[in-house]
Amino acid sequence: MITSKELRKKWIEFYESKGHVNIGAVSLIGDGSTGVMFNVAGMQPLMPYLLGKQHPAGTRLCNVQGCVRTLDIESVGDASHFTFFEMMGNWSLGDYFKEEKTAWSLELLTQGFGLDKEKICSTVFEGNDSAPRDDQTAEYLKALGIPAERIFYLPKKDNWWELEGTVGTPCGPDNEWFYPRHDTPCGPKCGPDCGCGRYVEIGNDVYMQYRKLADGYELLDNKNVDTGFGLDRMLLFLNNLSDGYKTDLFWGAIEYLKKVSGKDYDSDTEAQKAMRIIADHTRTGVMLIGDINGILPSNTGAGYILRRLLRRAIRYCRTLGVNSREMLGVASVFIDEVYNEAYPLLVEKKAYILDEMQKEIERFEATLEKGIKEFDKCINGLERKNEFMRKQNPDYVAETVIGGKQAFRLYDTYGFPVELTAELATEKGYNVDMVGFNEAFKEHQEKSKANLTSAKGGMESRSDAAIHYHTATHLLNAALKTLLGEDINQKGSNINDERMRFDFNFPRPVTEEELKNLENLVNEKIREDIPVVCKEMSLEEARAQSFVGVFSSKYGEQVKTYSIGEFSKEICGGPHAERTGELGTFKIVKEQSCGAGIRRIKAVLQK
Ligand code: ALA
Repeated sequence: MITSKELRKKWIEFYESKGHVNIGAVSLIGDGSTGVMFNVAGMQPLMPYLLGKQHPAGTRLCNVQGCVRTLDIESVGDASHFTFFEMMGNWSLGDYFKEEKTAWSLELLTQGFGLDKEKICSTVFEGNDSAPRDDQTAEYLKALGIPAERIFYLPKKDNWWELEGTVGTPCGPDNEWFYPRHDTPCGPKCGPDCGCGRYVEIGNDVYMQYRKLADGYELLDNKNVDTGFGLDRMLLFLNNLSDGYKTDLFWGAIEYLKKVSGKDYDSDTEAQKAMRIIADHTRTGVMLIGDINGILPSNTGAGYILRRLLRRAIRYCRTLGVNSREMLGVASVFIDEVYNEAYPLLVEKKAYILDEMQKEIERFEATLEKGIKEFDKCINGLERKNEFMRKQNPDYVAETVIGGKQAFRLYDTYGFPVELTAELATEKGYNVDMVGFNEAFKEHQEKSKANLTSAKGGMESRSDAAIHYHTATHLLNAALKTLLGEDINQKGSNINDERMRFDFNFPRPVTEEELKNLENLVNEKIREDIPVVCKEMSLEEARAQSFVGVFSSKYGEQVKTYSIGEFSKEICGGPHAERTGELGTFKIVKEQSCGAGIRRIKAVLQK
């Protein structure tokens, strides 16, 4: 039995012994630069370096990076789908290439993890119009003792790795490592590509030599390696398990749920599915709330995904017959026992995470019961209508679609994410009219926009002092990013006529000297008397032009942007000063902690 803690350690120690620097993991919340909301691959934060920028830690890097993939939330509940996982990775940034990489991967798999070299298979890229067949990798594998009959050439869909839906990102052919679960082939051609389930993919080495263009690929200057071995999957495989919830990452949570529900995991399939969903979604919830750039449940963007996960778990607590507050117990198991070493920030933020989770539970529980009744009414209504119509006409085709307006009512009044309504509907053999739902949603949004505009009218009559403070928050936000780190983000702000308050993520107190520098930089920008320019554009355009701000996920939505020269670019509703010169002198009066990993600056403008 190898534990998750041992596996992480083994990976890092092996690559450190080959001259790699452990760069640690970064935030799970994407920065918007790749068009993906969450960090979905170990290589994602390293993108600029794979494209040629110099990395401060050198050319050989390794880490274990958390990833969140939420494309198929509804599939979670089986033995192998998860919304969070960890990728064990290592990289060569224009350093070593195929010869060393094939040798090291094989060494780790055999000597490190005790796999039988005689059983290991590899797949390589068979080539196409954009890139040649990867004979080099095959030759190195053969030289290492993997015979030709265990090397398989496969097409792009299997052996080419890239971030789907992106442009300008690094990518390339990969070499995937496979191992048979048992010795009996399904037939004479049994291999990694036959899909009989005998072979498990245990990891891959991507030879990142290309940049993805809108209509093809171009060669990069650097030949890079991007390796990814999924920790969760590897753990399963090395321990000879086939149920992903039986590794030490999950078993504590499952044991907890078994105890509080009094139900059996192995024999009761309905309880098993519910336990898996509660465990997976609670784990991802813990990770997203407890992240360094932690988010909270909301109705847009990443916050909405988090809400969907938590509310789906809450609903499955009902199925399992446990109070949904038990999710806090499950969260505690993850924080205290499973991820305490790899993610110490979770331990530090534990009270906050549980508190926020509890709030979401309470919000949803307040309406869940009534919402389910309302949902049942929709179904009963349709059933009654179908029955009636069938009596009139035996050929009548039953109506099985829940109307968009009804789904919107469940969303708006009872907080049912539409995906949850759709899932409930599917269980009863019904569908939701998604087009109708989106129309109802849009209609509602337009109405609220109209209300917002009139509210903004009120805001525009705000005092000059408050408007000046608002512009000062933009300057301070930009100064923090310039002096203390690009990954600083606004976590809150509060303005009145006398002062401003600004909260941001930062792991330690800001020193006196840094505060002085921040003050000086803001004052320099005030003295430069820069015009504050407002432009409306689509959210996508704003994002492409590097405006920062809260990105909602509605495609094509028009947003207001404010720029102060090239120094500050934010998406914001305004209003703002016309020029920075109007602001007076900026003075920081206090710096303090405001929750784990969050600092607060109070400042005034002196005229
Ligand atoms: N980038 C590769 C993956 O995520 C290693 O599988």
